Amino acid sequence: MTSRPSLSQEVALITGASRGIGRAIATSLANSGRFIYINYQSSEKAAMTTLEAVKKVGSDGALLGFDVTDQQAAESAIAGVMKDKGRIDILVNNAGISDDMLMVWMKSENWHRVIDTNLTGFYNVTKPVVKIMLSKRHGRIINITSASGQMGQAGQVNYSASKAGLIGATMALSREIAKRNITVNAVAPGFIETDMTKSLPKDQIARTVPAGRLGKPEEVAAAVTFLCSPEAGYITGQVLGINGGIC
Ligand SMILES: NC(=O)c1ccc[n+]([C@@H]2O[C@H](COP(=O)([O-])OP(=O)(O)OC[C@H]3O[C@@H](n4cnc5c(N)ncnc54)[C@H](OP(=O)(O)O)[C@@H]3O)[C@@H](O)[C@H]2O)c1
Repeated sequence: MTSRPSLSQEVALITGASRGIGRAIATSLANSGRFIYINYQSSEKAAMTTLEAVKKVGSDGALLGFDVTDQQAAESAIAGVMKDKGRIDILVNNAGISDDMLMVWMKSENWHRVIDTNLTGFYNVTKPVVKIMLSKRHGRIINITSASGQMGQAGQVNYSASKAGLIGATMALSREIAKRNITVNAVAPGFIETDMTKSLPKDQIARTVPAGRLGKPEEVAAAVTFLCSPEAGYITGQVLGINGGIC
């Protein structure tokens, strides 16, 4: 095994960490003392609340606002992290959107907005981070995909395609960089209670889930934190479903 820094020396970058699952991941990773970069697109106030949560568990962090669809903005934000901290040990590609409608109604802009954020956003952020991790010979990359990317969901052709693409990218990238002690895994939540699902009929959905309920952001975060741990060093290229049994 190659050496890795103590957890309290690690630096984590979480995209879309102002709310929902991203905020829970930020807080969970901060529990072991890691420094957390909290990315967001526009919700600065919500991102500040995440930072407060990180500090409350005894760690520290910083806001890092940029749009993951903007390649230059992502690269310059990551260059700023390297100037300040000199390392990125963990990257969680969590930023994501949905724009649901049946394929027959889907306009080109509905397709591209979702693919650009969920899939090209992964490319824009991961490419510069992989370069850093390769030079350090150590790293953990977790991509937040979805059960929709594993089984397909009617009304979500764009979203399902973006999340299935992320699974393919996870598997391919894991093979490219495993020898450098960098693991790449995907976590695939089912229905989780966040802003993204707030307009859905919860009782109706719960009846379709074997566990009989929606999941909590903290339940996704626990899986991510495990995959980032030293004990998970031999797990790479995998997709872990957190879905109450729906697939
Ligand atoms: N909730 C579910 O049931 C569920 C199920 C499966 C998978 N997922 C996936 O889990 C991830 C988090 O979902 P969530 O439910 O926590 O969503 P959410 O509550 O809607 O939060 C989305 C986060 O992504 C950020 N974001 C969106 N577009 C961005 C962009 N272009 N650049 C940077 N940040 C951007 C948002 O930032 P702002 O606050 O600044 O807008 C926010 O922090 C997503 O990838 C989603 O697809 C969710």
